[in-house]
Amino acid sequence: MEKLEPFFFDRPFGLGTATAPTQIEGYETDNSWYDWAEIPGKIADGSSPLRANEHWVRWKADIDLMAKMGIRYYRLGLEWSRIEPEEGKFDESAVARYREELLYLRKKEIRPLITLHHFSNPSWFEARGAFCSANGSGVFLRYVRYIVTKIEDLCSEYVTLNEPNVYAANGYLFGLWPPGVRSFIRSVSVMSRLAGCHIQAYRIIHEIYENRAVHVGFANHYRIFRAPSEGFLAQIGIKWIEYLFQDGITRFMITGRFSFPFGLPFTFRKGTYCDFIGINYYTRCTMKGLTELPAPPHSDKNDLGWEIYPDGIRMTVQKYYNRYPLPVFITENGTADASDTFRARFLYDHLRTLALDCPYVSRYYHWTFIDNFEWAEGETARFGLVENDFPTQRRTIRQSGRFYSEIIKNNGVTDPMIQEYFPVRDTSETRGADEKD
Ligand code: BGC
Repeated sequence: MEKLEPFFFDRPFGLGTATAPTQIEGYETDNSWYDWAEIPGKIADGSSPLRANEHWVRWKADIDLMAKMGIRYYRLGLEWSRIEPEEGKFDESAVARYREELLYLRKKEIRPLITLHHFSNPSWFEARGAFCSANGSGVFLRYVRYIVTKIEDLCSEYVTLNEPNVYAANGYLFGLWPPGVRSFIRSVSVMSRLAGCHIQAYRIIHEIYENRAVHVGFANHYRIFRAPSEGFLAQIGIKWIEYLFQDGITRFMITGRFSFPFGLPFTFRKGTYCDFIGINYYTRCTMKGLTELPAPPHSDKNDLGWEIYPDGIRMTVQKYYNRYPLPVFITENGTADASDTFRARFLYDHLRTLALDCPYVSRYYHWTFIDNFEWAEGETARFGLVENDFPTQRRTIRQSGRFYSEIIKNNGVTDPMIQEYFPVRDTSETRGADEKD
């Protein structure tokens, strides 16, 4: 193992963690993901977001744990189906409960970044065709106006939409997520509508805050795409996938300008419709057409087979910052590692390149705080800094979670931390074993 060097952030840098309401809260039956999980075969292990982390009732203890770990930045979502359980009818008690949580975060000096939509829709919205329905965007924007007005005194940072590109790809192109549609045209249309929703939500939130400081952005999922060969056609194909999945929609959402195949029946004034670029980065993948090939045999992979490719975070950040020079937030980055054998190294590698090579990144939200309901993978994929034993709901801070706490405390990685978390193993024993063979 090569020798690891200490590193530090030489600028104010917020190290936090991220979650999504459907993935942690539990106790909710009125949304698209609960309905989806009810259909046999849709979730790998047959689990349901109905349980998840029971965070809806355990939220205080979870925040206490977060505070104990020294986490000061928390990206959390609000579940639309709780807030508007019936079309046009808002539930004040759900709002009160979220306000209580936000107040508690303030008490613990943890700064919230609020996600307004993270994959799940109220069942009534899904039933009417969600964002594809007539006035679907208007209905969403009414919710945005309502909820932001209710919490504007308690937070000043928002992600309007989480990963519209993944929502559209998994739900409308591959049919793996609700509503299970497989149509290229529909997926592009959904992305376009979501881009429009973001721009309008951006304006609404700024209007609500008037002259008070507020930061609004969106979080797309970004990958490094690689072609299986150097051939001209393969390279063109990869550029096209990159454009369809991430570049076209990002340009649309940031600037209001769209080009084929994206489009809406109306246009937006040319502008800048976000205050930070939100980047969710996990992996590099090799694509043949629309099919993702397995990661190369000798690459590092996580429990889901995703290639671990730390340099990709730098490449992604630099590419988008060069195009749109705005502050960059890493709104998600993490890995599935049930045995916690490589998460600390994953953190080290990704944070090191952010510290040393990406001076315009000012925030990092690790995905995720606690093992949770990982959508179609159910409870099997373990992304948490904190381990969750689902049947007992016992939380245990992982070794990598302790490492992350120390990074926060030291604003970087020190020599003693390297010695503690990445001990150089004496290879003589293994060598001995090999020799015996
Ligand atoms: C999503 C999260 C998800 C994570 C890991 C992101 O695409 O925003 O909700 O859990 O990836 O798969």
